[in-house]
Amino acid sequence: MSDPLIRIEGIAKRFAGRDGAVSTVFEDVHLSVEQGEFVCLIGHSGCGKTTILNILAGLEPASGGYVFAGGREIRGPSLDRAVIFQSHALMPWLTVAGNIAFAVTSRWPEWDRSRVREHCQQYIDLVNLTGAEKKRPAELSGGMKQRVGIARALAIQPRMLLMDEPFSALDALTRGMLQEEALRICAETRQTVFMITHDVDEAILLADKIVLMTNGPGARIAEIVVNTLPRDRSRHSVHKEPHYYPIRNHLVDFLVTRSRQFNEARPASYDPKHPPVVTPGLSETLPAPAAAASIPARPAEKAVVVSLRH
Ligand SMILES: Nc1ncnc2c1ncn2[C@@H]1O[C@H](COP(=O)(O)OP(=O)(O)O)[C@@H](O)[C@H]1O
Ligand SMILES: [Mg+2]
Repeated sequence: MSDPLIRIEGIAKRFAGRDGAVSTVFEDVHLSVEQGEFVCLIGHSGCGKTTILNILAGLEPASGGYVFAGGREIRGPSLDRAVIFQSHALMPWLTVAGNIAFAVTSRWPEWDRSRVREHCQQYIDLVNLTGAEKKRPAELSGGMKQRVGIARALAIQPRMLLMDEPFSALDALTRGMLQEEALRICAETRQTVFMITHDVDEAILLADKIVLMTNGPGARIAEIVVNTLPRDRSRHSVHKEPHYYPIRNHLVDFLVTRSRQFNEARPASYDPKHPPVVTPGLSETLPAPAAAASIPARPAEKAVVVSLRH
């Protein structure tokens, strides 16, 4: 397998409190994201998910450890890593097309206006906003604003898309539609994505692998769940897949109980450099490091399994 697109090596984040005591939000976090992979990070509020995403975006430094993108250490923001936040962060005085064009001209300042317009239109069409080009953010619904954010991020053709709970502020119907669109767009563009969510079903629908973080302080990656459902899944069919409930139950069980007990109940074999890789619903078992090394970027139906029930 080629080098991962993102390599996180032992990062930690610490803050000094008012009394001078240092609190550790998370530590010893190791993770790789392969080219073309869709990775979801799940964990309770406050465990440090947004902080990890900000570190990947180059918006804030880690207190320890290293993060590499394409083999180079991340030292600041880059147009190679586009971020989509929970709120849309559009420029209110610019139209839909103007917001996207702003990003595109930052990426390719040498392009003339017609080339920029043509390029933007492709991405406006991709997110189903055709016809809304001239509207300003105030005239758009929440779902449409998020679509503009997605189009803007994709239009600069980043190597990696970083999304922080991008659909959580939307109503359930709109959220479902945007999840389906994200699935389609990622299948079409083979976009590499790192996304934070606390919606278990969203993670199962979208992710190739789901990274589970324990509660803070001192949060860690407890394990990595490989999504063994077929890639051509849809929101309406996903629950009919035989592995759906085993995966879902595993995630819910983690969030409800194991995420907070992890530090006390951690198995002696736990190695933060190789968090256990699990495939709930499959029974074959291999030792974790061997399995971790052999997990394909796009897990096939018969993905190698790894143990790791506590
Ligand atoms: N600038 C800061 N100073 C002190 N603590 C911070 C700061 N930024 C974030 N934190 C703390 O770090 C923890 C993780 O925050 P965050 O990454 O936003 O978590 P999540 O996204 O998982 O909810 C929180 O407990 C938060 O209070
Ligand atoms: Mg957050």
